[in-house]
Amino acid sequence: MPKETFYITTAIDYPNGKPHLGHAYEKIVADTLARWHRLSGEDVFFLTGTDEHGQKTERAAKAAGKKPQEFVDGNVAFFKELTKALNLSNDDFIRTTETRHTKIVQELFERLLATGDIYKGTYEGLYCTGCEAFYTEKDLVEGKCTIHKRDVEKVQEESYFFRLSKYQDRLINHIEENPDFILPKFRREEILNHIKEGLRDISVSRTSVTWGVPVKSDPKHVIYVWVDALPNYITALGYPSGAKFKKYWPADVHIVGKDINRFHTVIWPAILIALGVKPPRSVHSHGFINVGGEKLSKTTGVRVDPLELVEKYGADALRYYFLREVPAGEDGDFTEKALIERVNGDLADGVGNLLNRVSTLVHKNFDGTIPKPTAFQAVDNDLVAQANIAKDVDALMRKYEWNKAVEKIWDFVRYCNKYLSFTEPWKHQDEKERLATVLYSLVESLRIISILISPFVPALAEKVRTQLGQKEELLEDAAFRKTTKGKLTATKPVFLKLEMVQEDPFSMLNLRVAEIKDVQPHPNADKLYVLQIHLGKEHRQLVAGIKPWYKPDELKGKRVVVVSNLKPAQLRGVESQGMLLAAEKQGVVKVLDASKGEPGEQVVVEGIAPKQAQITIDDFAKITLTTKDGKAVYDGKPLKVKSGEIVVDLPDGAKIR
Ligand code: ME8
Ligand code: MG
Repeated sequence: MPKETFYITTAIDYPNGKPHLGHAYEKIVADTLARWHRLSGEDVFFLTGTDEHGQKTERAAKAAGKKPQEFVDGNVAFFKELTKALNLSNDDFIRTTETRHTKIVQELFERLLATGDIYKGTYEGLYCTGCEAFYTEKDLVEGKCTIHKRDVEKVQEESYFFRLSKYQDRLINHIEENPDFILPKFRREEILNHIKEGLRDISVSRTSVTWGVPVKSDPKHVIYVWVDALPNYITALGYPSGAKFKKYWPADVHIVGKDINRFHTVIWPAILIALGVKPPRSVHSHGFINVGGEKLSKTTGVRVDPLELVEKYGADALRYYFLREVPAGEDGDFTEKALIERVNGDLADGVGNLLNRVSTLVHKNFDGTIPKPTAFQAVDNDLVAQANIAKDVDALMRKYEWNKAVEKIWDFVRYCNKYLSFTEPWKHQDEKERLATVLYSLVESLRIISILISPFVPALAEKVRTQLGQKEELLEDAAFRKTTKGKLTATKPVFLKLEMVQEDPFSMLNLRVAEIKDVQPHPNADKLYVLQIHLGKEHRQLVAGIKPWYKPDELKGKRVVVVSNLKPAQLRGVESQGMLLAAEKQGVVKVLDASKGEPGEQVVVEGIAPKQAQITIDDFAKITLTTKDGKAVYDGKPLKVKSGEIVVDLPDGAKIR
């Protein structure tokens, strides 16, 4: 009999920068589900990838001074690196700039033109370039998009439209007849109401954008991002005639974030119905990850780099934290402290310690060979009953309640630790028969645990399994039996406790050499200047309180040091994009002299890598910079550029701010 298939996808990410924690979260969830279904013996296809076209990418590339293709190639490398770092088991990675995708997107667009599902018209609307979406007045607050809080643009252009309105009733029927189409269930009503309010045809092409897939029969139009992006789920399978498409479609589940639920449960199924293709079985929307209660954002600097986290703590730690701590479908919070506590408790103490204690006892009493069990007492039979949770866990996973599945498994881990404390095998070293049953039961429980945890924390699971001397098995083998044999390898810790990696506060600072180009008095303050500076290619304006000590001509052309990653602030009504550093001692103020540096060059202290993220003035206040031997120093170490040190003409111990 052929295996059952399971096709699971993630959203394809915009590679406008490096991947963020939300991207990592979604991929971890999808990977765990993919691994679970493989463990169940199914033929799984797991797809992820990147969504590379559109105006937003075009603009981001321009801001980075790169051609769009070159720009996305650079960033996609990080997304691919992340799939490796997170230990993802994806079977493919689709990029929407690949010919295998663009060619099919063009063909399906032509097909929809031929059926009349796409037609040409004129679009007039309010467009937010942040969202890459058109809005109606009622979607806006004070004329601004609610997500980016920026003005929308009034746009009028010739455009192709998709006849979404035609599918209104069919979509309602589909959702009502397929109770698992929209998951979690609490999201169904919101989508049904949206459809029942009435669907309008949607614009599906642009003439104002060049970075996209051209319409084959009318190449001055490029295909609108969502109509380009959504079909990735079928182009990757070789739609319309590829063997994989025939085998795996319809998808079992698209895993996406709550913000793009509507695109996947309204527009996408309508496109598919129009193409004569079955809609996916389910769309599961997950919640959003915040960091320490703050939204992830490029502009405020709350952006934790998942690649850095994996490097520090390992993939299993991040995977476990997200899967255990964020309830399926809901938002969740991330802090390193919470990660460390959770992971140390459940992985190092829970699983790691259990294995360590059991392994030590088996080596001591049975030379490492798994003993044959003898008579089972009530306490052992209770353990057996607790061990047989595979069916319950499976049911939770199939309901997409992965966090409850994790809880259920770790309840058993805790039970095993209790059983060990209760049976006290170390006290029964002369009762070999009793000892054999107890230790056998614990090894067998650990074998089951290693199977059940493998989709969640694959690296740890494998270490447990190999230390138990067992081969790889399937979910159906995760049932307590009395016949397991084998020899344990040497007792070794499988999960080392994590420690908070304390970073030097100086690493928060991004100091750069600036050349002062112009100096003007501040219009509303006696002691302030407004400076125009060059940071290499970049130009900025600073407000600095050095007017009492310098004439404008003494400053012009000077190379100084600025804090380049300070949050911009209004100082008496004038914007300051960073801060000029100056030293003060006994009422005398001198700017830091960076004449050995080039404009834009990084100012460093040996052994500390600077970050890019924005900081606040309060963060800056925590870092003490001072002078020594006529140099600017941090923690006794000089501030440097490539060809020398930063000097200050003041005695030791001046305060630099
Ligand atoms: O939306 N927490 O790309 P994207 C959790 N290209 N998930 C988050 C998140 C957060 N803070 N922020 C974003 C796109 N996501 C489109 C998708 S699919 C055919 C096209 C999720 O890079 C977001 O919900 O903005 C989405 O599922 C995924 O990350 C990619 O977001
Ligand atoms: Mg997004």
